[in-house]
Amino acid sequence: MKKIVITIDGPAGSGKGRIAKYIAKKYNFIHIDSGLLYRKTAKLLIENKINLNKLDQIKQTLIKNNNFSLRNNNNLRNEHIGKISSIIAKINFVRIHVNKQQIFHTKQKTKKKGFVIDGRDIGSVVFKNADLKLFIEVNPAVRAKRRHKQLIDLGEKSIYAEILKEIKLRDKQDIIRKNSPLVVPKGAHIIDNSNSFRKTLIKINQLIGQIK
Ligand code: CDP
Repeated sequence: MKKIVITIDGPAGSGKGRIAKYIAKKYNFIHIDSGLLYRKTAKLLIENKINLNKLDQIKQTLIKNNNFSLRNNNNLRNEHIGKISSIIAKINFVRIHVNKQQIFHTKQKTKKKGFVIDGRDIGSVVFKNADLKLFIEVNPAVRAKRRHKQLIDLGEKSIYAEILKEIKLRDKQDIIRKNSPLVVPKGAHIIDNSNSFRKTLIKINQLIGQIK
């Protein structure tokens, strides 16, 4: 039976990961967090002390390491890795590498009913023919507040004003980059997730109910 594919795109801290996890649990889907794959790539390059201006070094390292698991690891969630992920996400070779891994994971044999994939370019580039595309919006101040709380809860140091600055910078980098910028994918439903999460989920469940 054909597996359902749902894509969720949106800026940093919009809650797309939380929404993806909810969908995966409720509908028995596999969750592919593409941001996590960028973070794993960033960590690999940091650990190997790769000069990010040397494309050859990046290529060689990634060619040797092309099998990232989908398992989450909280130590990937820090701001330094987030910053480096955003920088390397501008490089076309890195994007192709991460996209291939996402597609590879959707080709694996599974009893699950489908896939929910979240990121910045999932509905616009990686899975253009998805059964349902969502684009999550939340204003930057609300996102910074949420991210700040998340970091404090993880036991990390965090200063709200710096987080807000970081979020705005990350948005800018994601929007203005040449390769796969953050856009509302064609055919996507825009969901405002600034207020109650419950309302967001009601809307999303309605949309999933309409998938044919
Ligand atoms: O947690 P946050 O939303 O900030 O980031 P993430 O989803 O963990 O992804 C880390 C970084 O990878 C983002 O800041 C993006 O710059 C980049 N990314 C991307 O370019 N394309 C994706 N599909 C996913 C992430």
